[in-house]
Amino acid sequence: MMHESLKDFFKGFHHDAHPMAMLAAAVASLSAFYHDNLDVENPADRKLAAIRLIAKMPTIAAACYRYSIGWPFRYPRNNLEYVDRFLHMMFEVPSEPLQMSPVAAKALDLLFILHADHEQNASTSTVRLVGSTGANPYASVAAGITALWGPAHGGANEAVLKMLEEIGTPDNVESAVLRAKDKNDSFRLMGFGHRVYKNFDPRAKIIREMCHKVLAELGVNDPLLDVAMKLEEAALKDDYFVERKLYPNVDFYSGIIYKALGIPTEMFTVMFAIARTAGWIAHWIEQHETPGARIGRPRQIYTGHDVRDYVAAGKR
Ligand SMILES: CC(C)(COP(=O)(O)OP(=O)(O)OC[C@H]1O[C@@H](n2cnc3c(N)ncnc32)[C@H](O)[C@@H]1OP(=O)(O)O)[C@@H](O)C(=O)NCCC(=O)NCCS
Repeated sequence: MMHESLKDFFKGFHHDAHPMAMLAAAVASLSAFYHDNLDVENPADRKLAAIRLIAKMPTIAAACYRYSIGWPFRYPRNNLEYVDRFLHMMFEVPSEPLQMSPVAAKALDLLFILHADHEQNASTSTVRLVGSTGANPYASVAAGITALWGPAHGGANEAVLKMLEEIGTPDNVESAVLRAKDKNDSFRLMGFGHRVYKNFDPRAKIIREMCHKVLAELGVNDPLLDVAMKLEEAALKDDYFVERKLYPNVDFYSGIIYKALGIPTEMFTVMFAIARTAGWIAHWIEQHETPGARIGRPRQIYTGHDVRDYVAAGKR
């Protein structure tokens, strides 16, 4: 049922539409299918909504991708595990079975786990703010998806790939590092540094290991990945980066892994959204279970004029 509805739903979209736009719209529209019987005050209904969201997100995400490239949708194969099922919906063609290296599924599984939740980041706070109004979970998570879309949040791994493309070849890495250190140049190494983690991000340590495994095992031949590895090596031994504790972050490695798995750049934030859905909906449930929870209402500090006399329109 869901597949047929999605096909009809996407018909209104241009094939060039960003998959995040399609994902946000499709997730918000789930409330049109499921809202009627959903009581957000009922724990069993909340759990059902959480299961539905986590289960349907990969199906919708893969459908967004396939619609954008004009491929027919694939139904989820229930005999497969979560990640394998998603990879099949993304990449399987009707004419032959999909051959995927087990390391691809393992890497994706790891990324999904490490991206599942990360305290009060912008998108999670958005889900909680919308959820605090009593809005249904699909609308709340759709708001989280739109918050994630921005380059300062979920869009960062896309920025890493754009930077690697800009650097172009391993020979240009040295000059890129020099530019990143030059205070008169606004160029920064994307995927390095973190607002909160000033030592190595514990997640990045795990992802780095997997990233190297994926590249070795898949034997991908892509000059951009060579640029990434050379950049990592150069920055890790450069005094500027070492002194400022600027380590490659999760976005650096996750972008490289996605690229090696053949996932297109514009789908990177969608991948993040699939993983973060578990965190978003867990926060949504938690807030509904908190006794005395009230609507979110950030305070505003007024810094304008104390008094302003009215000036007639003709005299301004
Ligand atoms: C993540 C980030 C915004 C954190 O910023 P921050 O905590 O405010 O750190 P600051 O901007 O104060 O940087 C501290 C110092 O490191 C330098 N620096 C920080 N990140 C840098 C980078 N990616 N490349 C080059 N220099 C960098 C700053 O110029 C500053 O140098 P100074 O002390 O000589 O002035 C920043 O590191 C960054 O822009 N990284 C690249 C974008 C990115 O990967 N974003 C995804 C984050 S998950």
